[in-house]
Amino acid sequence: MLDIIIKNIGTLVTAEGSSPLYGKNQGKVKVYNNICIGIKNGIIEYIGETPNEKARKTINANGALATSGLVDCHTHFVYGGSREDEMYDIVTGHMGYSDIIKAGYGILSTVKDTRLQTENALYKKSVPILDSMIKYGTTTVEGKSGYGLTVKDEIKILNVMKKLNENHKIDIVSTFMGGHVVPDKYKNDRAGYVNLICNEMIPKIVKLGLAEFCDVFCENCGLNMEESHNILDAARKHNLKLKIHSDQLETSGGSYLAARFKAVSAEHLIMADDRCMDVIKKQGVIAVLLPNASFYLGMPYARARYMVEKGIPIAIASDYNPGSSTCFNMQFIMKLAYLIYRLKPEEILNASTINAACAINRGKEIGTIEVGKKADIIIWNTKKLNFLLYTLDNNLCSIVFKSGEIAYSNTDI
Ligand code: NIG
Ligand code: FE
Repeated sequence: MLDIIIKNIGTLVTAEGSSPLYGKNQGKVKVYNNICIGIKNGIIEYIGETPNEKARKTINANGALATSGLVDCHTHFVYGGSREDEMYDIVTGHMGYSDIIKAGYGILSTVKDTRLQTENALYKKSVPILDSMIKYGTTTVEGKSGYGLTVKDEIKILNVMKKLNENHKIDIVSTFMGGHVVPDKYKNDRAGYVNLICNEMIPKIVKLGLAEFCDVFCENCGLNMEESHNILDAARKHNLKLKIHSDQLETSGGSYLAARFKAVSAEHLIMADDRCMDVIKKQGVIAVLLPNASFYLGMPYARARYMVEKGIPIAIASDYNPGSSTCFNMQFIMKLAYLIYRLKPEEILNASTINAACAINRGKEIGTIEVGKKADIIIWNTKKLNFLLYTLDNNLCSIVFKSGEIAYSNTDI
């Protein structure tokens, strides 16, 4: 007996497999027409014509489009406060994003506000964000610490994510990012802060099982190459998987570190030159591109189309955070990838499902609609993938299934 049959799916579009897709395969999908999906114990059990097996519940998709749930593989969703006045300064041309950081604000403003919040307050602030994410189709999200920058406050943020992961329907993958910027206290002792990260934060966080990845903001206004190297090296020795914010504001060289450490992913890459691309390609690093950070800050865009042609696997994500991307709606991010990166709908779908899943080491469990994978499925309020990218209108999710349960629906079912 199945738990749920979703019948009458007009078009099902999905990648196949558990590995990142690149080059000509970036947009490779399998398309099924007039198909059913059977779900049991939260897992996809059956894909085909009307199954022989009965189900406790049947849901009629009425000919709509179905895809895998969206994976937002890069966010900073646990934070205190907000930065609207700094945004005003950026928009009116008073100060640039990195000038604000260098002046001791920006990320550090959020650090101040986050430190003031209790774990419970941060938890409560995050719940409605996750509720909205799922409503817009995100079924798995990665979240980074990095607004604490003390042992206690980094652990506080990671604890919030751990508890949210236990209690909220959405799946959360946690990344430690103590290497975001150097906090005020260590302004004149940067090496002291890197030591604190390597010798205290990382060992403690790993011992507590609070993070799966370590990320570092490798930029002039973040951590320099040597500092980033030391942090990644310590993280690797503690068996954390690696990610790097690299080449966002300048050609920082972070891509070389990503390649050297065989990081799972390199993020932003706006300023990545051809050599940066060559090295990450060679090591199979996934490029996580964040079009809303460019849009929001009025910055140039990563050369996504070029990276696809070069054969680098592309994932896209929201980069949701209070400074450079105040949007967690992955549908909007996908539309930016369409209208600005000029990626094709199938390439974008794979960038926000299978490749994003691989960027957080979840390619075997999620990211495609295949028997044996988690039943994270979206029934859309359209019949066509092209329409999804075409309209800038509201939420197009009709039903969002998370691990086989209806997490959101705007239709009578
Ligand atoms: O990916 N650049 C570093 N981290 C974030 C921004 C964080 C912030 O501005 O608060 C990013 O864009
Ligand atoms: Fe980021």
